[in-house]
Amino acid sequence: MNKDTSLEKIMTVLTVLEYPDKRLRKVAEPITEFTDALQTQIDDMLDTMYDENGLGLAATQVDYHHRLVVMDFSEEHDKPLVFINPEFEVLDDEANECQEGCLSVPGFYEHIYRAAKVKVKALDRHGKPFELDVDQLMAVCVQHEIDHLDGKLMVDYLSPLKRNRIKTKLEKAHKLALKEG
Ligand code: NI
Repeated sequence: MNKDTSLEKIMTVLTVLEYPDKRLRKVAEPITEFTDALQTQIDDMLDTMYDENGLGLAATQVDYHHRLVVMDFSEEHDKPLVFINPEFEVLDDEANECQEGCLSVPGFYEHIYRAAKVKVKALDRHGKPFELDVDQLMAVCVQHEIDHLDGKLMVDYLSPLKRNRIKTKLEKAHKLALKEG
């Protein structure tokens, strides 16, 4: 018998909603109870994020409309960060331009301006409050993921022309995927 068997866990990969799915526009509700079901939801979201090779994932993207975000910036995928009811304040509003991608807008990478440095306040997976000052890529990610909880997407920062072009391409891809079933 393999000694490590007891450590193995079954991966659960959730479906990530894709733009222009209307469910991505719902505003998520604050989390008030730290139940076993919530712990499972957090683990499933981490599995999903790792499977999709994302740096961050917001609950809204997996059709769970509560204020929960997961991230991991480590190469080994072994430093998961969980943010419950996250809020941020801008520490340095010098605009930082970054090429952003989103699992809900697959295949598109767009230049977007965000605040360069922010302070995040959130609860951990057990409801304990913490604060974190973040800059660079992590500051971008925090702002991007909190946007998701408010029903906002990176395409909202683009010109209507660009946004429509992305919408048309993704709708076409979704129709094709349905046909090929
Ligand atoms: Ni995203």
